[in-house]
Amino acid sequence: MDIASRPSETPENPQTADAAPPPQAPLIIRRQDYLPPAWLVPEIALDFALGLDATHVTAKLNVRRNPDGNGASVLRLNGDQLAPVAVRIDGQAVNDWRLDGPDLLLDLPGEAHQVTIETQLNPAANSQLMGLYASHGMLCTQCEAEGFRRITFFPDRPDVLSTYRVRMSGDKAAFPILLSNGNCEATGEGPDGTHWAEWYDPWPKPCYLFALVAGDLVANHDSFTTRSGREVALNIWVRKGDEGRTQHAMDSLKHSFRWDEEAFGREYDLDLFNVVAVSDFNMGAMENKGLNVFNTRYVLADPDTATDGDYDAIEGVIGHEYFHNWSGNRVTCRDWFQLSLKEGFTVLRDQMFSADMGSPAVKRIEDVRVLRAAQFPEDSGPLAHPIRPDSYQEISNFYTATVYNKGAEVIRMMRTMAGPERFRAGTDLYFDRHDGEAATCEDFVKAIEDGAKLDLTQFRRWYSQAGTPQVSIVADHRDDTLVLNMTQVVPATLNHGGEGQPEKQPVPIPLKLALFDRETGTHRGEQLIVLDQAEQRFVFEGHSRPPIVSINRGFSAPVAIEFERPAKDLVFLAAKDDDAFARYEAMQSLVVRHLIAVVGGNLDERARNAERGAIAEAFGAVLFDPTLDDLMRGELLILPAEGYLAEQFLVADPAAIHAEREALKAWLGDAMKDDWQDLHDRVSAAPYSRDAAARGARKLKTQALAYLAAGAPAEAKTRAIVQYRKADNMTDRQGALMVLAGLDGAEREEALADFHARYAGNALVIDKWFSLQAGSLHPKVLEHVRQLAEHPDFTMNNPNRVRALYMAFAVNAKGFHAASGEGYKIIGDLIRRLDPINPQTAARFVPSLGRWRRIEPKRAAQMRAELERIAAEPSLSRDVLEQVTKSLG
Ligand code: ARG
Ligand code: ZN
Repeated sequence: MDIASRPSETPENPQTADAAPPPQAPLIIRRQDYLPPAWLVPEIALDFALGLDATHVTAKLNVRRNPDGNGASVLRLNGDQLAPVAVRIDGQAVNDWRLDGPDLLLDLPGEAHQVTIETQLNPAANSQLMGLYASHGMLCTQCEAEGFRRITFFPDRPDVLSTYRVRMSGDKAAFPILLSNGNCEATGEGPDGTHWAEWYDPWPKPCYLFALVAGDLVANHDSFTTRSGREVALNIWVRKGDEGRTQHAMDSLKHSFRWDEEAFGREYDLDLFNVVAVSDFNMGAMENKGLNVFNTRYVLADPDTATDGDYDAIEGVIGHEYFHNWSGNRVTCRDWFQLSLKEGFTVLRDQMFSADMGSPAVKRIEDVRVLRAAQFPEDSGPLAHPIRPDSYQEISNFYTATVYNKGAEVIRMMRTMAGPERFRAGTDLYFDRHDGEAATCEDFVKAIEDGAKLDLTQFRRWYSQAGTPQVSIVADHRDDTLVLNMTQVVPATLNHGGEGQPEKQPVPIPLKLALFDRETGTHRGEQLIVLDQAEQRFVFEGHSRPPIVSINRGFSAPVAIEFERPAKDLVFLAAKDDDAFARYEAMQSLVVRHLIAVVGGNLDERARNAERGAIAEAFGAVLFDPTLDDLMRGELLILPAEGYLAEQFLVADPAAIHAEREALKAWLGDAMKDDWQDLHDRVSAAPYSRDAAARGARKLKTQALAYLAAGAPAEAKTRAIVQYRKADNMTDRQGALMVLAGLDGAEREEALADFHARYAGNALVIDKWFSLQAGSLHPKVLEHVRQLAEHPDFTMNNPNRVRALYMAFAVNAKGFHAASGEGYKIIGDLIRRLDPINPQTAARFVPSLGRWRRIEPKRAAQMRAELERIAAEPSLSRDVLEQVTKSLG
């Protein structure tokens, strides 16, 4: 039996009464078991005596019995690797506290008490980077999801909301800047070169939004005046020397403030907004109230060190964290099963923001590419879960592409069905109704239902069912009528939450559609149809010729579509569709179909050449279409990712997919060699600027090089080293180095050595140096990765560096899926070595091995063996154990 399917150990579950689970059984937390807290904590005062390897914390909790609780007199305070130094109730020291595992239990006789707890921490020894930790001499916190319990004992659950008063003191030279949530109310000097600051946040919040930062930081200061006239001081805090690379983040922040007022009617609610960049960080960034903490990679940028992609990511993440101030902070989550309430909604908001700041068409294509590369495989693998999961062992494992990106798609569908105005009425109602509350996904759906006047009864299945719906379409044209016969299947997920979801119900699938007349090349307008049955016919009259069907325009639904049609229809759509996404999709389909057929050995030489010809024709149309801008042209020329191609097979051979995809690339590189060279010449003439035309030119510059590298490597090498040497920006330099890293020769060595020397000491750029080599097409990539792991610049203690080397490698099919199994061993060894240091980051590598069931048998056995080797480790973290057991189960 799946280890994860054992009954829950929570006292609410009657099944555990007689049969105690074996001692090693994981604790499974279930959504159904939610109970309101027995005690509330309306106020907390925290006092920190700061030191890098010794910080003393005094927490004063004003606790009050919850009228809606179960009336228990025992107060449970969560802890994690904490021991209480002192406990006082209403000022009196007590000794009759008890520990239940990591938690502290206190019996409280009355309705309200003051509980004081002292704890002692060693931030420098905190390699997990959860709770209070040290990074380059500064102190900072990460509390979401359950890090606050590593600072003090507390009801660490998002439905306990408190106002926070925070006092901190420490050495003034080591920590000249002292920050927490809310406003700074007082500062002063203490004895022996210390100083202190007192902060107060008037907005009640759950403890996962608490933050503290102390260090030697400098800021980019600016301000923003809100629409009602509030002047907000904006500060972006970084280490000395980095301040020159904060302007893009500041601009993005001001744009975010303005955009949320205009697009969602949301205004900021404090006089101060601080952002701090930290180089040791498990995730992207964190939306702590009034004090966002960011991974440096989502703050620091200048043209010499950051690519255009880095700039876009900064804008998106700055927006994301800022938008959480309403979708997450003012309205928070009742429990962690509701995570998509804030994350799915906030991802949608950041996607809409980035679309408005740049090209909506390009942004939509990029978002779909991410969804298909990361979320589709998750949804069809052993870790599949609904956007609102039903159970978990370690909540950190549920910060997933499903909760975030599919969550955003689900809310986007509501918007598509309601239209923008009615959707806005729904979100207005949601914010009004639940401001100050800890809400559920159901509350969100109900508010959209009431505010946007939509019936979402059946739509709620999108929240409870895992799996990507598979839609099949068969077109039938007779006389002047087109009939689209559609079916939908939501695939069974057998492992979800341990119980699985063997049977699924149909979901409403909103599909935007246009029917092109194949002679005039026009259509009569876009329509929205909703497929909500298992089988359904849609009839369209008045088409004397069989129209060309453009469907799921704008990717209106996150589904997979199977629709057999002639290549010439796809070539038409790739060249002529007026919906940018549909155009991209036609291009992708053309290539995907072709590669499926060649990998399956289903094409003879003649058929293969004919299909390649059709693809080249579509590429030519894209290259020479004067109506396209270069950013969009770049999207249309990207081949489908290997991961997405693998998804098309029940059991995939990653080596064959890689080889055939490279073969097509080489054929296009060779057959269209002159076009790529002309293109490279044209775009190389554009001077550096951050405008769309120049960014488009840079995107194409490296793409042209990559096709040439596959089809005409000598030509590519010459051009790449020139591009590298002449580069006046990181986009060109990294692009050239990426191409060179995959080719042998003196140029490769010259560029890699130059890059390393030029950017020595710049951690974010050295990360790129690791990634480019680990992700390269070089035949010796395995050897390179092993050597890079021994490089003096490599460390297991910095998550960015670990990801730079090993994530880049885990998605590099050439190395990771090497026939010897060496690639799997590299990732398996990494997980085992990293787990004791940083379990959260270690667990993120498990899914790459966990896909073994969908891989050809020889490699599947090697991947499984690697998972078993990890499972055999004596003391795995809960994070890795959950992912490994579910992947094996
Ligand atoms: N809420 C953060 C965000 O903006 C992510 C924090 C995740 N933290 C974690 N330990 N898993 O998406
Ligand atoms: Zn978020």
